[in-house]
Amino acid sequence: MSDYQQFIANVKRKTGIDLALYKEAQMKRRLTSLYEKKGFKNFDEFFRAMNHDQALFHEFLDRMTINVSEFFRNAKRWEVLEKKIIPKLLEKNKRLKVWSAACSTGEEPYTLAIILSKFMPLSQVSVLATDIDDNAMARAKLGIYMERSLQEVPEDVKKKFFVKEGAHYKIIDDIKRAVTFKKHNLLADPFDTNFDLIVCRNVLIYFTEEAKHELYLKFNRALRPGGIFFVGSTEQIFNPAAYGFEVEDTFFYRKM
Ligand SMILES: C[S@@+](CC[C@H](N)C(=O)[O-])C[C@H]1O[C@@H](n2cnc3c(N)ncnc32)[C@H](O)[C@@H]1O
Repeated sequence: MSDYQQFIANVKRKTGIDLALYKEAQMKRRLTSLYEKKGFKNFDEFFRAMNHDQALFHEFLDRMTINVSEFFRNAKRWEVLEKKIIPKLLEKNKRLKVWSAACSTGEEPYTLAIILSKFMPLSQVSVLATDIDDNAMARAKLGIYMERSLQEVPEDVKKKFFVKEGAHYKIIDDIKRAVTFKKHNLLADPFDTNFDLIVCRNVLIYFTEEAKHELYLKFNRALRPGGIFFVGSTEQIFNPAAYGFEVEDTFFYRKM
């Protein structure tokens, strides 16, 4: 077994996270640069140190997860969501069950809550937001962001839903209350069901093809018939019908 394979087995035993389901070249490169920076010679030394050093373990988690996010990331797609997808979903159900999977630091589920609030009182908006990374979700719950996370946010939305505090922007409490954060590993934990809308963007690109196939099927099962699966702008599904989806719009798939 190679040094990296052994590391994968150790990490799985320690955390339940299966690095074998992430694209190997990318993940290995990212983690190698971390252990070299920390002065270790190989994955074995790195794992042993991680076992005793909680801070190092958190750095490892940080490096493997990649938490980059933004409000209204790829703004044109969110416009399609608001103008076309949500009105159509609301024709069937007055209350929508919505999941932001791999929500990182909260920009995505808060964007969802902001958009949904244009259709119903905020007290009726409820978004489930999940991620494998506790640190990212702790930041999400704080709801404080740098200006660069808001570069796609329209001025009127900024005024209505954020409070400027020095160099930062704080999301208002009414939006915060509409989002429930929960730890969830997409590659290991069971999925809830009966969703009208699942948003899972910019995480599937890190997974192996096999892991992705499995996940498309699981997301399909988690949706109601007619429910929508919204993916990232580099994450087109090449054969949606194989997973029970049809194309609703670019990067939006409808459960058949
Ligand atoms: C690049 S961020 C994407 C954030 C947001 N969805 C967006 O598009 O802006 C990727 C997120 O996926 C999360 N992630 C990685 N592996 C995961 C897994 N197995 N289960 C759940 N979340 C995972 C990371 O912690 C990180 O927060």
